[in-house]
Amino acid sequence: MAARFDPSGPLCGSLRPPPDKSISHRAALIAAMGEGETTIEGYLDSADTRSTLEAVEVCGAEVEGVGPDGLEPELRVRGVGLRGAENAEIDVGNAGTLLRLLPGWLAGQPQGRWKLDGDDSIRKRPVDRIAEPLRRMGAEVRCREGRLPPLEIEAAELHGIEYPMPLASAQVKSCLLFAGLLAEGRTWVGEPLRSRDHTERMLAAAGADVIWINGGVQVRPTERLEPGHLTVPTDFSSAAFFLIAALLVPGSEVVLEGVGANPTRTGLLGILRRMGAEIEAEPLGGVRGGEPAARIRVHSAALQGTEVGGPEIPLAIDELPLVALAACFAEGETTIRDAAELRRKESDRVATTCGALNALGGSVEASEDGMTIEGVGGLRGGTVNSHGDHRIAMLGAIAGLASAEGVAVEGMEAAAVSYPGFERDLASLSGVPRP
Ligand code: S3P
Repeated sequence: MAARFDPSGPLCGSLRPPPDKSISHRAALIAAMGEGETTIEGYLDSADTRSTLEAVEVCGAEVEGVGPDGLEPELRVRGVGLRGAENAEIDVGNAGTLLRLLPGWLAGQPQGRWKLDGDDSIRKRPVDRIAEPLRRMGAEVRCREGRLPPLEIEAAELHGIEYPMPLASAQVKSCLLFAGLLAEGRTWVGEPLRSRDHTERMLAAAGADVIWINGGVQVRPTERLEPGHLTVPTDFSSAAFFLIAALLVPGSEVVLEGVGANPTRTGLLGILRRMGAEIEAEPLGGVRGGEPAARIRVHSAALQGTEVGGPEIPLAIDELPLVALAACFAEGETTIRDAAELRRKESDRVATTCGALNALGGSVEASEDGMTIEGVGGLRGGTVNSHGDHRIAMLGAIAGLASAEGVAVEGMEAAAVSYPGFERDLASLSGVPRP
């Protein structure tokens, strides 16, 4: 049955969004590669990040603190060491980040073989972007039709390479950095545009020799990782839904607590400020593992259209559907360019975002690498199909609150991939329904 999101009165109050999904995946993987016990404070409890815990367990790591009804505030992971992953068949579920990161570690093991597979959507996500550079490092990797999961990996001796990435991807970069820890010589991954740097920060904190040099990241072979204690800040990408909701529902004022404020993730703030939003981000000082956090205060505002492209894209890649939603409420036209990668997410997000917003009364035209949105001052409402994509489901919900007639979201359960408590948290901020 579709979930309904009715037009809302002003949203107000404060909220701590859930822990960061990207950082949680990395914390579990790096803890599994580590020596002895690592504690992870505030690991995200979602379908995707549970897939990562199961993956590291089948590779031999021990995970404590996982209950059927939830995770303890602090997980304990006993690692197998950098070179100790056991043979396994791994079900990555719907987790694209797990699918792209884990092979880097496995490919450089001294022995073993692994198979990674997942759900129907994961079987459509390309893996040649990691398989190809891994092979150049000496890895034994096979994929279906040369580019799709399942992915089969056999242990091999790796050597470092210089790899200028053809597209900015934190997943590809992270995969190659993991492989580089195990390769002979240095590995350098060039970034055409800066992408999120959580892996570099966490590896450096665990004792790896990782540096930013000549427009890329360099890693040298490492004997051991000692992550010790990792803290996961809250997820900027989850906070972004409330940020947009507060901007679009007239009279709202919302405070988001402890939000991850890594500048390689917060491109949305610059885009929204350019559109006319007033957003305060008060720095809260660093958290362990090297990730900054901030308290974000936002209130509703009239918005203007803008142009989004170039270096801003990787810094806001997961929030671009929300930019398109905000642009429907703005005055004038907004264009999003250079974002062909959007077509390769959990759904083709150019198509699913355009489809969703047009079904609600928007005027959005898809292009090969983005979209053009005509500001129509608001949305009427209607029905959105999530296409199994968590970010499209949550976009539909936010659109409903800000719309004239409300939105029914088909496939709302997809939100559980990153944010199982989304509807409850949204309700905690929701004002009296608008008539
Ligand atoms: C992620 C990187 C981004 C992002 C994805 C998570 C990560 O993908 O869209 O949701 O955790 O590294 P790309 O690296 O493919 O751009």
